[in-house]
Amino acid sequence: MKQMEDKILAEGKVLSDQVLKVDSFLNHQIDPQLMKAIGMEFAERFKDAGITKILTIESSGIAPAVMAGLELNVPVVFARKRKSLTLVDDLLTAKVHSFTKNETNEISVSKKFINADDTVLMIDDFLANGQAVNGLMDIIEQAGATLAGVGIVIEKGFQQGGELLREKGIRIESLAIIESLENGEVKLKKEVPTK
Ligand code: G4P
Repeated sequence: MKQMEDKILAEGKVLSDQVLKVDSFLNHQIDPQLMKAIGMEFAERFKDAGITKILTIESSGIAPAVMAGLELNVPVVFARKRKSLTLVDDLLTAKVHSFTKNETNEISVSKKFINADDTVLMIDDFLANGQAVNGLMDIIEQAGATLAGVGIVIEKGFQQGGELLREKGIRIESLAIIESLENGEVKLKKEVPTK
């Protein structure tokens, strides 16, 4: 998605060979017009997939997920990383380890909001090692729902997540794929459509 790639090149800050900072439009301040375009792009790519629900994980997945939900006219559910005061029973849970932050969170979703009739589109801001996607897949499986595919705003192509998930036959649609962050420079990869 050209608009996304242009934004990364204009505003992304390379923090190291591994980490790209995009807090001016995705991880802290949010660019609503860009989110709207992102939502439209995901909706276009998954419009024939029979999506009934979008699943993401707090916090930075929520904005793109809501915009996609608006376009596809389906509800959006976000997995919580922390225990909620009101969300106490009938939970589906999974463990998600973050290599970046070196911490493990137990994520949870109420059984009420995902069930066996659902065809789920998963959306997240970053795909690195694929731990968040694996955790959400675990939850979808426990619910007996069907995973239609995964929409990712920025994939780090030099980390393993994308490759491992595609090898499993999962449809991954990334709006921008970073090939490398070496020498303080963002190198983008030409996206190969999965459909
Ligand atoms: P993984 O799920 O693909 O395995 O990713 P990983 O554990 O490496 O990432 C953990 C957190 O760091 C995730 O956010 C992920 O989105 C984010 N992240 C990973 N690589 C980058 C990067 O290069 N740049 C930025 N800006 N973020 C990165 P999170 O902890 O869930 O944070 P949030 O959603 O609450 O913002």
